[in-house]
Amino acid sequence: PLSTMEQEAEITQEMGSLHGIPLYKSFIEGWPQVKAFQARPDDLLISTYPKSGTTWLSEIMDMIYHDGDVEKCRRDAIYNRVPFLELKAPMETSGVELLENTPSPRLVKTHLPVQLLPTSFWEKDCKIIYMARNPKDVAISYYYFHQMAKMHHDPGTKAEFLENFMAGKVPYGSWYDHVRGWWEKKQEKKILYLFYEDMKKDPRQEVQKILQFLGKELAEGTVDRILHHTSFQEMKKNPAANYETVLPTLMDHSISPFLRKGISGDWKNHFTVAQNERFDQHYQKLMAGSDLHFQMEV
Ligand code: A3P
Repeated sequence: PLSTMEQEAEITQEMGSLHGIPLYKSFIEGWPQVKAFQARPDDLLISTYPKSGTTWLSEIMDMIYHDGDVEKCRRDAIYNRVPFLELKAPMETSGVELLENTPSPRLVKTHLPVQLLPTSFWEKDCKIIYMARNPKDVAISYYYFHQMAKMHHDPGTKAEFLENFMAGKVPYGSWYDHVRGWWEKKQEKKILYLFYEDMKKDPRQEVQKILQFLGKELAEGTVDRILHHTSFQEMKKNPAANYETVLPTLMDHSISPFLRKGISGDWKNHFTVAQNERFDQHYQKLMAGSDLHFQMEV
C-alpha cells in the first residue's frame, strides 16, 4: 500500500499546457479522446469557467430533465449525473467513458474555453448553456477550492493567488478570455448565456429563461420544487449535490466545504482596498471594447 505522502503525490496534479491553456497533466493525457468525442444531437452542454456555479446549474438542469422529481435526482452524485467531459485521473473512469455509458438525453459538463470545445458539439448543433460569474467572487472561490481539492498545489497566499488568477496562471487559464470567448460565440450559435448574479437575484426568472430555451413547460408547483431543491441550503445538505461523497483524500471539506458561501460579493471580505483597485484597473484593460458586463455584487 502507498504511504500517505505517496498517495498525496499521486493526487496532486502536475500542470501542463493544452494549446496554451494551463491544465492538469492527466487531463492533457486524455485529450485525444476528448477531442474525438462524439456528441449526440440531444446532448445539452453546461459550460462554465470553474467556480462559476456549475454544480448549481447542473442540479437545476437535472431537476428540469426529471420534471422536479427530487428522488430521481438523488439517484447518484452530481458528478455522475452530469459527467465532466474532460475529466481524466489515474484509476478513475474518465468523463468520456462515463458519457459513453450514459443514456440520452445527456447533460454534459465542461470548463473548456470555447476554442477547445470538441467540434462534434458544433456539428451536432447541441444546445449549450454557459454560466458566468463575476471574477472577484470566482477568484476567491477558486482560492478556497485550491485548498480543499487536493489535486491542486498549495495556492500560496491570497495575494499570490490573485496575481496568478489575473495573469491566467491557474487551471483553465484566463477568466477574461473564457467569458469573452463564449460571449462572442453566442452571436452565431445556440448558446444561452446566464449569470450567477442573476440566478442569485431572481432564480425563478432564470429558470424560466432555461425552460424557454429548452422549449419546455413546467407547472408552477414543479418550478417551486426545483427552486427549493436547488437553493444553497438544500444543496449544501444533499450528499448527491455537495461533493461529500468524493474520497476525503481528494477533497477535504473540513478545510473549506465545496458549497462554501454561495453569495455574491464575498470578495469584499477578502480583497484589500489596494488589491481591489489593482484588480479593477486590470479588469478595465482586459474587458475593454466588450459589451459583456458583470455585477460585482447583488
Ligand atoms: P463559493 O465558493 O463562493 O461559495 P462550481 O460548481 O462551478 O465549482 O462553483 C462553486 C461555487 O458555487 C461555490 O461558490 C458554491 O458555494 C456555489 N454554489 C453551489 N451551489 C449553489 C447554490 N445552490 N446557490 C448558490 N451558490 C451555489
